[in-house]
Amino acid sequence: MAKPLVSTRAPALSGSAQIPGDKSISHRALMLGALAVGESVVTGLLEGDDVLRTAACMRALGAEVERCADGSWRLFGRGIGGLMEPADILDMGNSGTGARLLMGLVASHPFTTFFTGDASLRSRPMRRISDPLTRMGARFISRDGGRLPMAVIGTARSLPITYELPVASAQVKSAIMLAALNTPGETTVIEREATRDHTELMLRNFGASVRVEDAEGGGRAITVIGFPELTGRPVVVPSDPSSAAFPAVAALLVEGSEIRLPGIGINPLRAGLYQTLLEMGADIRFENIRDQAGEEVADLVVRASRLKGIDVPAGRAPSMIDEYPILAVAAAFAEGTTRMRGLGELRVKESDRLAAMARGLAACGVAVEEEKDSLIVHGTGRAPAGDATIATHFDHRIAMSFLVMGMASARPVKVDDAEAIDTSFPGFATLMNALGAKIEPA
Ligand code: S3P
Repeated sequence: MAKPLVSTRAPALSGSAQIPGDKSISHRALMLGALAVGESVVTGLLEGDDVLRTAACMRALGAEVERCADGSWRLFGRGIGGLMEPADILDMGNSGTGARLLMGLVASHPFTTFFTGDASLRSRPMRRISDPLTRMGARFISRDGGRLPMAVIGTARSLPITYELPVASAQVKSAIMLAALNTPGETTVIEREATRDHTELMLRNFGASVRVEDAEGGGRAITVIGFPELTGRPVVVPSDPSSAAFPAVAALLVEGSEIRLPGIGINPLRAGLYQTLLEMGADIRFENIRDQAGEEVADLVVRASRLKGIDVPAGRAPSMIDEYPILAVAAAFAEGTTRMRGLGELRVKESDRLAAMARGLAACGVAVEEEKDSLIVHGTGRAPAGDATIATHFDHRIAMSFLVMGMASARPVKVDDAEAIDTSFPGFATLMNALGAKIEPA
């Protein structure tokens, strides 16, 4: 059943908020914990629907996966090559990351795995995954257009490949790297634009050898050496910078605000939004910068700021691909025009985010232009009208972005269905309201 919420202009936000764990790192911690020999204890795991589905899948594939306390999970892995054929279809819900990474993982195991997902996931492109994995020896049976439901017929004799990514996608890179673990020899992925490197960092942390070199012709070549000895490790998951983006932008937009967000992951390949906001004039401080199992984290202090429109370089897209919806909201309050380019991938996320943002912003009274792979937002430096009901298309980031919009626009903003927020940020409305927001059932 749809869960509509309405967000009304908020007084100054204040206080400190503990943002849930990083979604990308949480998926990977469960997958590698399920492969490593011995015990891995994961703390700070995101307990959103997407990650819980991955946990259930790792169990279905034979690993011991146990929830000990809030965010604290214990795994006993099967060792490389030790996964078992799941007895039933793996339902990945809304999760593109879970589906695509797991397809890679099972592709080099000699059994068949069936995958499905919700209506959004069943419409998303999967050939980007099946193409390289087919070259490694796996076979796929899919619905028209290479979409889920899909069967992955894994191979006992996978082949190492060298593969240049046709799209800047960490999901595709990671799927190949995970298949490479149970593949002899060296498998290399070439990326012309750097994408998030959580798989590389965590594999090294579990004891695998991953080489990263400059690629001929530009970019990086990432090489995994097959059959590594992965040993159970403790993993402390940083708070998710993509989730932190919502309260951070809210604090920038709501006059008089000052909030603190401790322990946020600031991996440079994820931090594009923060760099962009700083260029727009945001007052964001990064305190107590430290290393947490190979990932950089910091405490963020965000103060209300007057923002100005800027041109966001297309090359920055991979480091902030999930943040364009909330950046577009920030741009709507900025003075001047913000041009966001190189956004073709936004059309194949949980929804067509380019179209959803353009339509939603226009409904809120913002002057916006949507092009094939660009979004141009004309801000006036004044609060937009709001006063609209937004179609979220079961997309968590669209829902959260427009609830933030309502916190600072002249009149309330309603979202038709906020249910999807639980996929990545359970407790979002409660956390925002504790900072001072007024988000309520509509
Ligand atoms: C993710 C990679 C990104 C991102 C997604 C999480 C990951 O997708 O949009 O939310 O964990 O690897 P692409 O790699 O397909 O761009």
